[in-house]
Amino acid sequence: MCLSQLVIIALLLSMGTSKPLKQDRPSCGYQSCPQGKPGMLNVHLICHTHDDVGWLKTVDQYFYGANNTIQRAGVQYILDSVIQELRHDPKKRFIYVETAFFWRWWRQQHDHMRHQVQKLVRDGQLEFIGGGWSMNDEATCHYNDIIDQMTWGFRRLSDTFGSCGIPRIGWQIDPFGHSREQASLFAQMYFDGLFLGRIDYQDKSKRQKTQTMEMVWKASDDIGPAADLFTGVLPNTYSPPAGFCFDTLCDSVPIMDDPRLHDYNVNERVDSFIKIAHEQAKMYTTNHIVMTMGEDFNYQNANLWYKNLDKIIKYVNEKQKNGSNVNVFYSTPSCYLYALNQANKTWPTKSDDFFPYASDPHAYWTGYFTSRPSIKGFVKHSNNFLQVCKQLDTLARLGPMDAGDVSVLPLQVSFLFQLVPIPLAVQKIPGRVSKATSELVFNVKLPALGFSTYFIRKSNKFNTGCDIANRWKTRLLREFHLSNGIKLPVKQSFYWYNGMNGNNSEAKFRASGAYIFRPNGTTPYPIDNNVTVTLVTGPLLNEIHQTFSPWISQVIRIYNNTKYAELEWLVGPIPIKNNIGKEIITRFDTNLQSKKKFYTDANGRQVLKRVRNERPTWSLNITEPVSGNYYPVNSRIYIKDDSKNIQLTILTDRSQGGSSLSDGSIELMVHRRLLYDDAFGVGEPLNETGVDGRGLVVRGRHLILLNSTSVAGKQQRELSEKVLLQPWLSFAPFSGSEYEWAKQFTTEYSGLKRPLPPNIHLLTLEQWKGNSVLLRLEHFFEKTDDPRGLSKPANVSLKDMFTPFNVVNVTETTLGANQPLRKASRFAWNIEHNSTRTNVNTGHQRDAPTGPEFNITLNPMEIRTFLVTLNDSVKQLKSIS
Ligand SMILES: *[C@@H]1O[C@H](CO)[C@@H](O)[C@H](O)[C@H]1NC(C)=O
Ligand SMILES: *[C@@H]1O[C@H](CO)[C@@H](O)[C@H](O)[C@H]1NC(C)=O
Ligand SMILES: *[C@@H]1O[C@H](CO)[C@@H](O)[C@H](O)[C@H]1NC(C)=O
Ligand SMILES: *[C@@H]1O[C@H](CO)[C@@H](O)[C@H](O)[C@H]1NC(C)=O
Ligand SMILES: *[C@@H]1O[C@H](CO)[C@@H](O)[C@H](O)[C@H]1NC(C)=O
Ligand SMILES: *[C@@H]1O[C@H](CO)[C@@H](O)[C@H](O)[C@H]1NC(C)=O
Ligand SMILES: *[C@@H]1O[C@H](CO)[C@@H](O)[C@H](O)[C@H]1NC(C)=O
Ligand SMILES: *[C@@H]1O[C@H](CO)[C@@H](O)[C@H](O)[C@H]1NC(C)=O
Ligand SMILES: *[C@@H]1O[C@H](CO)[C@@H](O)[C@H](O)[C@H]1NC(C)=O
Ligand SMILES: *[C@@H]1O[C@H](CO)[C@@H](O)[C@H](O)[C@H]1NC(C)=O
Ligand SMILES: [Zn+2]
Repeated sequence: MCLSQLVIIALLLSMGTSKPLKQDRPSCGYQSCPQGKPGMLNVHLICHTHDDVGWLKTVDQYFYGANNTIQRAGVQYILDSVIQELRHDPKKRFIYVETAFFWRWWRQQHDHMRHQVQKLVRDGQLEFIGGGWSMNDEATCHYNDIIDQMTWGFRRLSDTFGSCGIPRIGWQIDPFGHSREQASLFAQMYFDGLFLGRIDYQDKSKRQKTQTMEMVWKASDDIGPAADLFTGVLPNTYSPPAGFCFDTLCDSVPIMDDPRLHDYNVNERVDSFIKIAHEQAKMYTTNHIVMTMGEDFNYQNANLWYKNLDKIIKYVNEKQKNGSNVNVFYSTPSCYLYALNQANKTWPTKSDDFFPYASDPHAYWTGYFTSRPSIKGFVKHSNNFLQVCKQLDTLARLGPMDAGDVSVLPLQVSFLFQLVPIPLAVQKIPGRVSKATSELVFNVKLPALGFSTYFIRKSNKFNTGCDIANRWKTRLLREFHLSNGIKLPVKQSFYWYNGMNGNNSEAKFRASGAYIFRPNGTTPYPIDNNVTVTLVTGPLLNEIHQTFSPWISQVIRIYNNTKYAELEWLVGPIPIKNNIGKEIITRFDTNLQSKKKFYTDANGRQVLKRVRNERPTWSLNITEPVSGNYYPVNSRIYIKDDSKNIQLTILTDRSQGGSSLSDGSIELMVHRRLLYDDAFGVGEPLNETGVDGRGLVVRGRHLILLNSTSVAGKQQRELSEKVLLQPWLSFAPFSGSEYEWAKQFTTEYSGLKRPLPPNIHLLTLEQWKGNSVLLRLEHFFEKTDDPRGLSKPANVSLKDMFTPFNVVNVTETTLGANQPLRKASRFAWNIEHNSTRTNVNTGHQRDAPTGPEFNITLNPMEIRTFLVTLNDSVKQLKSIS
């Protein structure tokens, strides 16, 4: 997993780009938009294709159109075909979204074609919308991944198309629910607006009735207006209106407009279109409406779409002579947004998020928060490794140098260490190649943004430091003791829900599946009737090894110098005897009076309050009491009791679904294995197997924190940063002399001259272009986490930050690094504010780095992005081996 990611990055770095074509006055952008007609109902037709970057087929299979028996889809043909159509008619427009596919195609084109495409982009006929490497999911992605993948796509577009390749619009038409943090990040990427396809069916119905499909989303309490984002919900997810899909993959009736032929149908088709337009207009507030003319992998033969849309435009607009007020034309999401902005009206606002997503009363898309738990674990692990690689790549950018006096000569220190036995269940995980039976534990202090080297020798007489006892009375986690003497009963155990079987013929027969979580019954079954335990103690850590069943075990680990308990669970193969699919949860039960409230993070960053059986913006009809209360947990979930002044927090090592279904209780779904498809496209049950062909075995960790509510925010923020980016261990056999090694190679190194403030995290450090690197710093506290301490603004001087190089110039950019901040601007919108109309200028300007020291200030939850020019004349790190 990690290796392949590295290979991909290396390949992409070496790919050539063709210079943006220099010509005067590009007409891309809002100035090239069709204006519509005042007083008419203006219908913006958006020609688009939704191209999943990997789903039922691999990305390359989708690109080439291979394995079409799985799904008929070939993206290369879409681009070939659309470009020809656009070239022949300047009125036609098309948007393209997924840069992963566009880039594959672009690399294969000759200069002639490239110039034609550059012209189409410059003229605004072909526009990049979204523009990330892919349209990322919002429930299970971490913000670090989102920012990286958007930046990667943006950079390809900017390098190729200059300013016309800067996407203006977020286009999240297929994710199954929408996170507030994603909207905040998009606002900081300077998108002018965001369009969504899927929102909860109850929410949508209310919004349609109350004409609140379009709003200003206030996406961050900490960042304020700079995180406000205009958000529109599209009328038909991202499909065309019923009866108007003209692709080879669809079967709508074409416009048959030759009156000499038998099947002439223009009047009937035009009337139907006009009726739909008027119906749709009732749900929106301006005299502009939008119709998405496309579907998954549409436009492989673009002529079908364009030929019929040309006719619709012609015949619908002809009716204006007879008094019709419908005016239809080719447009783009940005042109539609521009029309909304020009309308100068006052928009409603929203401050919560769009989770969970239900498409009908029994289809809550909360199963995929946990589905494929191993891959979700790998994603986190790979991101960690990717950041390590980028940092090392930057620090080592000038190549090798002598060890010199930097180098620390090894001292022989007798570390206190502990050998901890690896539980048998772990040793027996199918596919495990290691023969290790115990783990070596010792404490080290690591330099910031650096590394240190340890030589480990096996000694003949060593002390295992273990005392294995089998007489532990309590078999389950029962109680936590706080250092202030408070004891809190915390029962932890595993349970399973019976996944609903069904044939999906009607909503009530929906099966639990890859996307949908639908338990049969609201009470999960316990798995703790016969738990056996082993106790491992030592100077550095104590462990309790619990076996719940032949397929569930857990290690409860407490280090002597940390304040949390680590629960490392091992689940699988989940038995599927008697045709019963199972969804496994870990549950923590306490007597905390949490009063229906619990808290979950968005994309590993801001935290949102959840209230059981409620939604902040509509009165919820509870049809699925368990899955309708599940929310994405990317990094943390907590409950608190204000009268007891206690908060219980669980940090996860991967994305999972979680909830609090009764006061004092937290549950997280860790694994699921199901025997029926849920009929949302994957066409198979979620029945993952491991290398041995049996059900998949998954291992993961939860960190449990218990603290007073006033300091819990600080503690969980600090710890979750450590969980996100852990030190990377690498091992090599070594038989020489440590002294010789240390004379030749750097053994300890820090890339930072001084530590960053404790509330600041170095989010990105990667090579950019020429002498510049991309640097992102973030304040990772919310205002409310530690109001009198680490939630305060922090100052950093960029000038003297790094050991191996001097910073000679700094340019602050938008979050996606595709525009200098000083040149970037966004639309302003009017919103209701305490029943007065307020103009929100969302393009908020920050103070530029000041003085020769490049001093900057970071406020809570702020991320600042810089292109930093480095001075190369400094000594470099010798070798990172
Ligand atoms: C995809 O096509 C290739 C070549 O025809 C074939 O070898 C492979 O098995 C196919 N993969 C799947 C998943 O059908
Ligand atoms: C927008 O509307 C406000 C009042 O609602 C008005 O004062 C202002 O001039 C309008 N702006 C434009 C550009 O029409
Ligand atoms: C749900 O569970 C009940 C028993 O609790 C069983 O009788 C019923 O068949 C199950 N329904 C489905 C669809 O699995
Ligand atoms: C409990 O589990 C142990 C070990 O897995 C087994 O030897 C014992 O028979 C089980 N006891 C019961 C009552 O199932
Ligand atoms: C943990 O153990 C290490 C090694 O014995 C010791 O230096 C440290 O003080 C201990 N920490 C605590 C909190 O007991
Ligand atoms: C709640 O949803 C169910 C299932 O769709 C429906 O039968 C019922 O009428 C709804 N109740 C209300 C109050 O809307
Ligand atoms: C689930 O996977 C197992 C193991 O590969 C297989 O034996 C079983 O038939 C599968 N069941 C379904 C319903 O897919
Ligand atoms: C509570 O959090 C504070 C702040 O991080 C920390 O210093 C303290 O050790 C924590 N106490 C416990 C019992 O976890
Ligand atoms: C430093 O960067 C700014 C843009 O932020 C640019 O205008 C200026 O020319 C650069 N100065 C040097 C010395 O490179
Ligand atoms: C808006 O109303 C809230 C309470 O409803 C109040 O706290 C706040 O001060 C008001 N803001 C303004 C700008 O009037
Ligand atoms: Zn999709």
